[in-house]
Parts: sequence; C-alpha cells; structure tokens
Amino acid sequence: MLVNATNMLLKARDGHYGVGQFNINNLEWTKSILLQAQAMNSPVILGVSEGAGKYMTGFKTVAAMVRAMDESLGITVPVALHLDHGTYEGAKACIDAGFTSIMFDGSHYPIEENVAKTKELVEYAHDKGLSIEAEVGSIGGVEDGVVGSGEIADPEECARITALGVDFLAAGIGNIHGIYPDNWKGLDFEALDRIHKATNNIPLVLHGGTGIPDSMVQKAISLGVCKINVNTDCQLVFAEATRAYIEAGKDQQGKGYDPRKLLKPGADAIMEKVREKIELFGSANKA
Ligand code: G3H
Ligand code: ZN
Repeated sequence: MLVNATNMLLKARDGHYGVGQFNINNLEWTKSILLQAQAMNSPVILGVSEGAGKYMTGFKTVAAMVRAMDESLGITVPVALHLDHGTYEGAKACIDAGFTSIMFDGSHYPIEENVAKTKELVEYAHDKGLSIEAEVGSIGGVEDGVVGSGEIADPEECARITALGVDFLAAGIGNIHGIYPDNWKGLDFEALDRIHKATNNIPLVLHGGTGIPDSMVQKAISLGVCKINVNTDCQLVFAEATRAYIEAGKDQQGKGYDPRKLLKPGADAIMEKVREKIELFGSANKA
C-alpha cells in the first residue's frame, strides 16, 4: 500500500524503533524488498537516488513500476516511494511523477539557501500530500555521485530547517556513505543528542546504514533516529551471490544462463539482508 512516510515514522518514533529505507535499482531489487517487508509485516521505504532513477529510464517509469508491483504482489504493509538525496529540480520532478515522499538534500548550500529552497519544497510537497526529508551537516563519502564532506550538523541549523515543517531530518553525525574506513571514529552520539533536543522530537534519519555496528544503530534509535538508510549492503550481497553462482558454473548448467535464474541468487540475498535489517531496526509486525 503506497503511502507517504509521515505516519510510519511518527509511529516508529513513538514506538522506539526504526524503519528501513532500502534503495532500489531495478525490478529485482524492488520485488525482493517489497516481499520481505510484507512477509515480516513491516513498513518500508523504497529509496531512489537520482542516478538510479535515470538508470531506470526516469522517475515516471519508477513510479509506474512500483505502483503496479505493489498492487500485483498484493502488498498491504505501508510502502513509501522516496527520492533519496534529491536536487531541487529532481524533487519537483518526483512530486510530479507520483512519488509519495522526497528528500531535498540542500546540505551543500550555505544555510540561507538550504532554508529558502527547503521552505519552497515543503509547501510544494505538502500541497500534493507527500512527506519531505531535509538534510543539515553532511554525510561523508560518496553515493551515486553525491559527495559529502562529513561535517557534523549544527543543532541550531537543524532547528531552523525543522521549523520549516519538514517531516523528518537527516543530520550528519559522523556517518559515511559506502564502506566505512578502518579508522572510522564511530557515530557522534553527543551531537545526535544535542540535535535531538533542539529539533522538537522530529523523526531523525541515519544515512550510511551499511557497516554501522548493530549496537550503534540501536543507540541511535534510542536517541531519536526513526529511519535508517541502507544501500551499499544490498549491492554487496547481490554482487557476492551473483559472483558465486557464476564462479560455480551454474550459468552453464541446464538453462542457468536464463536471466531469471541468473538474477535469483542475488535477489534472494537482498531479501535476506532486508530481513536482517528489519529485525535489527525493530520494525517487524509494526505495519
Ligand atoms: O541515502 C542512502 C544511504 O544513506 C545509504 O548509505 O550505501 O552506506 O548504506 P549506504
Ligand atoms: Zn544517504
């Protein structure tokens, strides 16, 4: 059931658990995530980066595929279709294409410009019934061409962006996209605590969900994080399972080269990764 992400995240905040955002790239990704969320009776957010949107031939194609699949699989758990790290133009395009939620990532702009653009998009999104996420500070590393400095978010700036009426807020707290380096210092929980106290209990978002130790994820949830974004982890398990299938020569046996067989181990691996994350975040049976 396609919905915006506002209520599912307010419910998560009040119930002290997190909802997973899992990024999609194609039909297999989407189907695996939807089926696992349904099997575990969990709300879920499908994240679409601008790069992935382009790869899938545009946001309209993505929205049509997700809506049709949601219906034909008989998905009854709440599902939000969410733009991830959107530009101003991308956010508008997704609102018009039929997404149910957007992220406007204005974190690389000076704060006044981030405020002005976020404010405009809050009105545009809410007018059409979508939820909106904004970002303050910066997530380190690179995701799909989005480069971040890793700057820790300033609580006062977080408060200003929150006051614009955004539904949930991403704040840089030492988290990084992609694989964490060996010398990573961990999440800055003091910063998270200050941000949480300054932002009127708004649901907070933890980006860079791949490779954060489970205990840190759970501590972040206890300090106001309600949405955790996971992308690289699904890519890693998909690649590993596909490689194992090919290296075992299974693509050369019977009709193992049939794409539906070739892609199945990877799709199953994504389902298993999503299962693990839903259990860790505590959103099973919260639909
Ligand atoms: O916006 C998406 C995420 O923050 C995913 O990060 O690729 O490190 O899991 P990740
Ligand atoms: Zn991110």
